[in-house]
Amino acid sequence: MLATPGHLEQVLDNLIANALEASPPGGTITIEGDKADYDLLVLVPPHAGQEVVAASGLGDAGAWVPTDRATLAHRDHQQIFALGDATDLPISKSGSTAHFEAPVVASRIASLVRGTAPKANYGGRVMCFLETGDGRGPRRAGRSAVASPAVRPWAAARAWATVVAGDHTEVEKMRVLVAHGSKMGGTAGIAETVGETLREAGLAVEVRAAAEVRDLRPYDAVVVGGALYAGRWHRAARRLVKGNAKALRERPVWLFSSGPLDDSASEREIPPVRQVQALMDGIGARGHWTFGGRLPSDAKGFPASAMAKRNAGDWRDSGQVRAWAARVAEELAATTAS
Ligand SMILES: Cc1cc2nc3c(=O)[nH]c(=O)nc-3n(C[C@H](O)[C@H](O)[C@H](O)COP(=O)(O)OP(=O)(O)OC[C@H]3O[C@@H](n4cnc5c(N)ncnc54)[C@H](O)[C@@H]3O)c2cc1C
Ligand SMILES: Cc1cc2nc3c(=O)[nH]c(=O)nc-3n(C[C@H](O)[C@H](O)[C@H](O)COP(=O)(O)O)c2cc1C
Repeated sequence: MLATPGHLEQVLDNLIANALEASPPGGTITIEGDKADYDLLVLVPPHAGQEVVAASGLGDAGAWVPTDRATLAHRDHQQIFALGDATDLPISKSGSTAHFEAPVVASRIASLVRGTAPKANYGGRVMCFLETGDGRGPRRAGRSAVASPAVRPWAAARAWATVVAGDHTEVEKMRVLVAHGSKMGGTAGIAETVGETLREAGLAVEVRAAAEVRDLRPYDAVVVGGALYAGRWHRAARRLVKGNAKALRERPVWLFSSGPLDDSASEREIPPVRQVQALMDGIGARGHWTFGGRLPSDAKGFPASAMAKRNAGDWRDSGQVRAWAARVAEELAATTAS
């Protein structure tokens, strides 16, 4: 991309205007520089919270206010609210974000004053205008996943970089991990079906055994499935969630269980077992589904082999699995990185 003299003039004008505004009266502004051999310069200035937040003792180490994603209240002080650039929410720091958050804060304060139950929640609405040159500027508007685990800022940065790189319609695919804890392969099969459906919806998906997963950083969203044994989730799935709680809290996450050796899971929604519910609460998972299980007639070991004598069969309902995964894909699509 070649900068036209008009572009350069505009950049210099902006630089000088900003420098004038930020300089004390009587200060000197100098412009120096070398010619660099690049087509595009993306400058990311140091990003820090406000001094006033740091001085108040209400902020974290970066001087951001620890803010509840839905209520926008300080996480330790329910009667203090934050919005705009002050929050620690990992979404765009923009005027539009503050604009969409403001009515929620106003309504919540009004409820506190009136002593009524607060109703307003922030749903993660954001908007971003990206000027990409040649008179083009795609506007990316949508709902970030802030209401549930937040879109990571680097996912937004990647999407932005893709747009800037020239193709104004293509945004890099969101990367999703589907991990499974499976003893006899039934849950692994469900995970494959989930993965296929997410791929068909345009996501970049990896399906892996939970025990093999070490690092969640490469993924923008995660689905974890576990087989149920004696009312408990498969150990590898449990360990993955417990050992990566922080990373999972920062990403959209769904869990699923596989178990019932009858039609019950196809007939009604079966809530997560207590242990899985506790895991979900710990990471703010967005949803959970219980699918039917499978018990091979040649299941090895006790008590599986004994159970298989009277209860072998396959109750996995691929239509149900696909429908659930399609809903996950839809929710992810609505999770527009701004
Ligand atoms: C160069 C630039 C371009 C941008 N372009 C866009 C854009 O195109 N679209 C967009 O949506 N967003 C844009 N933004 C981001 C947007 O400006 C901010 O996200 C938005 O202003 C945040 O609003 P705020 O009210 O949270 O914080 P601020 O606007 O920063 O307001 C905080 C206020 O608190 C005051 N303050 C600080 N300390 C004290 C104190 N001790 N006592 C009293 N007052 C105090 C500050 O002076 C300031 O007025 C841009 C930002 C920059 C820097
Ligand atoms: C010993 C044993 C205990 C089980 N306990 C449960 C249970 O508590 N709840 C349930 O829904 N399914 C239970 N099941 C069914 C399994 O969850 C089902 O077979 C599942 O599909 C196995 O998944 P996997 O093939 O991925 O290991 C049990 C199966 C066995 C063999």
